[in-house]
Amino acid sequence: MWDLKIINGKVVSSGYVNEHTLYIKDGKIGAVTSEDNGEEASRVIDASGKYVLPGLIDTHVHSRDPGPTYKEDFAHSSRAAAAGGITSIFEMPNTTPPVDGPEHFDLQHQNLQSKAYVDFGLWGICLGSLNNHQIQALNEKGVIGFKFFWGYAVHSETYQLIYNYKPGMENVIAPFNDGDVFEMMQEVAQTGKIFAVHAENNDLIQTMTSLVEKKGGRSYEDLIAGRPDLAELLTVNTGIELAKASGVRFHVLHVSSEAGVKAVKRAQEEGYPVTVETCPHYLFLSNEDYPEIGPQMKVYPPVKYKQDQEGIWAGIKDGTISHVCSDHAPHTEEEKEGDLWSIPAGMCGVESMASLMLNAVNQGEISITDFVRLMAEEPARMFGIYPQKGSLQPGTDADITIVDLDQEMIIQKENLHSKSKVTAFDGFAVKGVPTETIVRGAIVMQNGEITGDKGYGRLVKPVVNKQKQVQP
Ligand code: DOR
Ligand code: ZN
Repeated sequence: MWDLKIINGKVVSSGYVNEHTLYIKDGKIGAVTSEDNGEEASRVIDASGKYVLPGLIDTHVHSRDPGPTYKEDFAHSSRAAAAGGITSIFEMPNTTPPVDGPEHFDLQHQNLQSKAYVDFGLWGICLGSLNNHQIQALNEKGVIGFKFFWGYAVHSETYQLIYNYKPGMENVIAPFNDGDVFEMMQEVAQTGKIFAVHAENNDLIQTMTSLVEKKGGRSYEDLIAGRPDLAELLTVNTGIELAKASGVRFHVLHVSSEAGVKAVKRAQEEGYPVTVETCPHYLFLSNEDYPEIGPQMKVYPPVKYKQDQEGIWAGIKDGTISHVCSDHAPHTEEEKEGDLWSIPAGMCGVESMASLMLNAVNQGEISITDFVRLMAEEPARMFGIYPQKGSLQPGTDADITIVDLDQEMIIQKENLHSKSKVTAFDGFAVKGVPTETIVRGAIVMQNGEITGDKGYGRLVKPVVNKQKQVQP
């Protein structure tokens, strides 16, 4: 007797779509068969007319927990993930305390596990000389990868990001320099894990922002002028050169410009193992949307021009971009209501990402097999958790997302499960909705209802080959 079987669905995996039946037992995929052979299960899901996918993974989530939990916490963000068809989230380390060493890793593991509706991985943070000596221990603990907030200053006690940094601010650690970054990369290179960066050059941002401010510019275009594509390009190129020299696996987080995509593409063509991700806001928005959406869409790096949007889509289509993630980074509605220049950057994303990308499937931008590659298979492979996650192979975790490509929905902020309901996509009409989220055999969301339990989610640890990357 199986625990669960999923019948009549179109099963998508490794580039193929097949009408298969999935059998689940003890939290694992038991069998995938071409016909329903009549074996019984305690529970049956009839997925007629729907697609059955490996569980979706969001590799980039800031749940603010522990830390500024008035904005968001892990119980809320992992419910939001379940609601949005996501079976695993990778939690960013810019919490208070940050995940900067083995003790804080253990604390965070316990903290998140007590609240988790879905499975989760933990990023480790790179804070230069403050924690270079902890990188190997963090690796041993099982971080999914290492994150460096390049270009950001951080608060000297809480390590919270300073969104609108100016030199001379009190209680602030100024952004690290390129030499510091090289040292961090050499340390991370020994782990074999990914060194992922927020890619914006602080020196250029300081100069460009003061030029704009002197002219009294306050518009959205002025915001882009203060943090232009050149700021991303400089950091991507510097990062690529330092990565070549250190042998680290270099990953560019949330690319926002055509120039950034092209720089990564060139390095990939030379044979270097550089990867890059993007997010729905860069794929579906441009400066032209600002008059309608307003400050809710302020994010770093900023959403830029139509040409950037097109360049990012080109990177999705030619395979330069490895995967799509949300950069879920809530702030309260009050915080996002002020003046565009002084408000913090970031918005919700974990719950709306799958529908936005399914809508792109319906619009013919990507296929359903591309969707699975970008949202499940490639994230799992890159971070060393494939095939446990991101696959439907017998013997692996029964993480499954079922989607209805024909169902229409309006994204509405009041329906989001996050604590702060700030989204740039309020009122967006989409076609394509996740209808079931299944984590290790348990149905945690069905038809929009959360059916899972708080504290069910478990830590997922990568299996990584510790050798340095081979250089061409
Ligand atoms: O807009 C952003 N918000 N970009 C980031 O890189 C960090 C994030 C946050 O944590 O608020
Ligand atoms: Zn981020």
